[in-house]
Amino acid sequence: MKIISYNQLIIISLNTILMALCSGCSPSDIPGCEDSTGLYEYASYPVGVAIDLFDLQNDTIYRNIAIRQFNSITPENIFKAAWLHPEENTFAWTEADQLAYFCSQYGKRLHGHTLIWHEDLPSWIVNFQGNSADWEELFKSHIQTIVTHFKDKVKAWDVVNEAFNEDGTLRNTIWKQKVGSAYIEKAFRYTHEADPDVLLFYNDVNLEQNAGKRKAVLVFLNDLRNRGITIDGIGLQMHVNIIYPEISQMVDAMKDVADNKYLVHLSELDISVNPYSKQITPSHSLLVDQAILLGKIIQNYNQIPSKFRYGVTFWGISDKNSWIPGHFNRTDYPLLYDGTYSPKPAYCLLKESL
Ligand code: G3I
Repeated sequence: MKIISYNQLIIISLNTILMALCSGCSPSDIPGCEDSTGLYEYASYPVGVAIDLFDLQNDTIYRNIAIRQFNSITPENIFKAAWLHPEENTFAWTEADQLAYFCSQYGKRLHGHTLIWHEDLPSWIVNFQGNSADWEELFKSHIQTIVTHFKDKVKAWDVVNEAFNEDGTLRNTIWKQKVGSAYIEKAFRYTHEADPDVLLFYNDVNLEQNAGKRKAVLVFLNDLRNRGITIDGIGLQMHVNIIYPEISQMVDAMKDVADNKYLVHLSELDISVNPYSKQITPSHSLLVDQAILLGKIIQNYNQIPSKFRYGVTFWGISDKNSWIPGHFNRTDYPLLYDGTYSPKPAYCLLKESL
């Protein structure tokens, strides 16, 4: 339990008042801050980050921030099938084991992302020729080989990622086509069989802004649960921006998930400040808007019952590590640290909001 100083209490109170009244904050409202104390030390739940192993092993500042600030690690890419299972009879454990060792060495929770997804599949899976029994064996052995390998190292798995369309129907992915419509149920069952102690998550995008999709996911997962399938939590990816969705939509999403008795993981949080891909500069007022929105997200996350607060994971350490600029071919500043690894207003206000 972190004891906060009188000054910090004053700052927290002022920021609480500030955010309550802060529709028209002036750019100077969020003073700079230092980052000597880890973010996770301010929180009653894990504060995590998506990690790129190359950066962790080759960028000392990146590594030191990861160690100092966060107590939960999600591999950004190296636990995906293309990296971990590159050939039918080959599992590439080396890099994944190096990340698992880093987590054990520094006492970090390791959140496995992701066992079953339709993206980043190796060509041998995409081109696999076999009957339904062959596909079932491929699917089951992929899951159970990986889960068994990381038993007692991975705390939780994103068992299935992004299985629903925006209209709430199931995506017609290769897994649905080849393993059948019950592939999601089978994925959770096979994972639980391989490691009864690991937490099992369903992870998806836009659940915080698309209530219809979220309802369809909850109906689907609740049905699985009612038929005895273990599902512990839902990842709200939270790839949001300073325009959309409204904070009220995000709050509804968090409450919906908790009300349905699932752990709530804000699993891939970033806040784009350039959703319309304009030519922008990272003005202080823009970054203050980002900070205030993040503060509201966290303060509302803190309102859900503590037993459902699995944690908050940021999808990268600094703006230069974010997937967004490359993916959307635009400048953007979505994370807590800027490109020189200096804490941004979002970091400074986050400390007071956790
Ligand atoms: O490592 C290779 C490199 O060797 C090669 O030269 C280069 C060019 O082809 O590609 C590199 O791999 C890229 C990898 O990121 C590492 O940079 C992949 O092509 C690229 O597809 C991959 O993008 C990742 C994307 O998922 C797809 O897997 C992003 O980093 C990652 O942030 C993003 O994360 C996803 C979550 O897993 C699921 N939710 C959405 C989120 C954002 O798309």
